[in-house]
Amino acid sequence: MNILIKNARVVDSSQDFNGDILIEDGIIKEVGLDLSKEGIEVIDAKGLTVMPTFIDTHAHFREPGLTYKEDIETGSRAALRGGYTGVCLMANTQPICSSKEVLERVRNREKELDLVDLHQCVSVTKGFNGKDLSHLDDFASDERLKAISDDGVGVMDSEIMYEAMNKAKENNWIIMSHAEDRGFSDIDMTMAENIMTLRDTYLAKETGARLHMCHVSTKEAISYIREAKEEYDNITCEVTPHHICLTKEVNNYRVNPPIREREDVDAIIKAIKDGVVDCIGTDHAPHTKDDKEKGSPGMVGLETSFSICYTSLVKSGAITLNRLSEIMSKNTAKILGMNKGLISPGFDGDLVILNLDKKIKVDSNEFHSKARNTPFEGMEFYGEVKMTIRKGKVLYKK
Ligand code: DOR
Ligand code: ZN
Ligand code: ZN
Repeated sequence: MNILIKNARVVDSSQDFNGDILIEDGIIKEVGLDLSKEGIEVIDAKGLTVMPTFIDTHAHFREPGLTYKEDIETGSRAALRGGYTGVCLMANTQPICSSKEVLERVRNREKELDLVDLHQCVSVTKGFNGKDLSHLDDFASDERLKAISDDGVGVMDSEIMYEAMNKAKENNWIIMSHAEDRGFSDIDMTMAENIMTLRDTYLAKETGARLHMCHVSTKEAISYIREAKEEYDNITCEVTPHHICLTKEVNNYRVNPPIREREDVDAIIKAIKDGVVDCIGTDHAPHTKDDKEKGSPGMVGLETSFSICYTSLVKSGAITLNRLSEIMSKNTAKILGMNKGLISPGFDGDLVILNLDKKIKVDSNEFHSKARNTPFEGMEFYGEVKMTIRKGKVLYKK
């Protein structure tokens, strides 16, 4: 668990310099110039960039129950290949994660594998039935539970969402909202997102609960969040790489929320620039070819996230690499309560080594995920993950 990285361009949300990083016992010990240490593995990162690993606020690993699409091991390996060492998992497994049994099963598997730090969400409503919150009492004393979510469907009933927010507040949980009014899903997916974004930001103001808006994708939704955040500090939001990079005229790949118009994408990117967007969440949603043909929405995201964000946001000149590190590492780690996201003594020794000049062509056959569902096949982006280190251990190497 000891490593010395030499001669790297060291970048996190607040620094960008050429130097060295020493990790001891899995923790960052020293950051600076001309560091040395006897009898330790040394990685020469000359010409390469070292950043804190990425942390994902939103992914689907499908275990238990849907492991023909993905499982915790393949999902974790996909994360590592994408430079991620922390992932928050949604509750739409089979069964839905509404019980201690399912939650413990995921946690045990995470511990057994010891690849990536996971945070498993519990559902807001029992089995996603939209009504029953009684199971939440079983988790009142769960020290590790950070977030609850019905992502995949959302909570339709406003009174239930209000009660859920009160419970979340009592227990200090974040409530992660998949904003979709299903009454509008077949009619107008923009209205579907906007209405629920208005409702949930309003309820968060009323209750004071910690609300996290998932995969924000419309110009109206981000403007409601912008306004709410000006007044209150209990709201955060994430955007996905695909909603930043694609417009529906170019590639209307099936995903929920759908790929939007140019003006929505521009509004989202502006909100990233302005500091309104807190973080990137991949919404990694693995499906088989068969399931995609039957209409399952979503795409895998962990292995392409950095290159897409780096190319669309940093190479394009919209934001700095520091700001990208803030939204992919610092802020996501903070939201999930992980001791990661910065290259500073005392933080976990979780680092990603990147070749920013390298152009990569997306080839889904190289994915470590079980799934291949990506709209980015054959597309070229800058920025290759060369190595992912977690707690001082190299867990992925190109
Ligand atoms: O595209 C999506 N896929 N949106 C969701 O809300 C769920 C997800 C999934 O689980 O496949
Ligand atoms: Zn969702
Ligand atoms: Zn999702």
